[in-house]
Order: sequence, then C-alpha cells, then structure tokens
Amino acid sequence: MISFTIVDRQGRETQAQAPSGLSLMEAIRQADVGDLEALCGGSCSCATCHVFVESFDLDAMSGDEDDLLDSSDHRSAASRLSCQIRLTEALAGLRVTIAPED
Ligand code: FES
Repeated sequence: MISFTIVDRQGRETQAQAPSGLSLMEAIRQADVGDLEALCGGSCSCATCHVFVESFDLDAMSGDEDDLLDSSDHRSAASRLSCQIRLTEALAGLRVTIAPED
C-alpha cells in the first residue's frame, strides 16, 4: 500500500493509502474526500480531476492532458489530472491538493 496525503478545497488534510497500480484519481475517490468529481471516469476528457502535486518527479504529461489543463483558470506549474497518474512505490509520501472548481 502507498501512503499519501490529500488536501481538500477547505485545506483539510486526509492521510490515505491505496494499492500500487491504481490511478491517483481512483485513490482519492476511495479515500472519500468528496471534492474530486472525475466526471469522465478517467478517460482524460473532463479535467474535473485536476490536482496540484508539488515536489514529485512525475511522468511527463500527454498532449491531451496538457490541452485539458489549459481549459482551467487555476492551472499552475504543479497542475496534473489525477486520472493520468499511476500510483507506484516511488510516489509514497505524495501530497496532493485538489484544485479549485472551474
Ligand atoms: S477524470 Fe476526467 S480527465 Fe480525469
């Protein structure tokens, strides 16, 4: 299991655990934090799973993810779509903040 921290839109922190191989979006939803809509179910077509991930070397984003993030008013250098991040042991200790709603 991989331990990570979720910060919701009110700034509350939740410690969570999820198995390796799950997407970060699925892991956040399993933790029942509630702020993450993920309307398209992970098919990289809605951008409602937008999160901020700091200080972790993640795989490069695809052009589709990049384009979708451009539609957000809240995009930052730490922006990612959580459905496009696969949890691995290398991400243990990850801290993820759910982006404001667009
Ligand atoms: S869940 Fe729709 S883009 Fe991630």
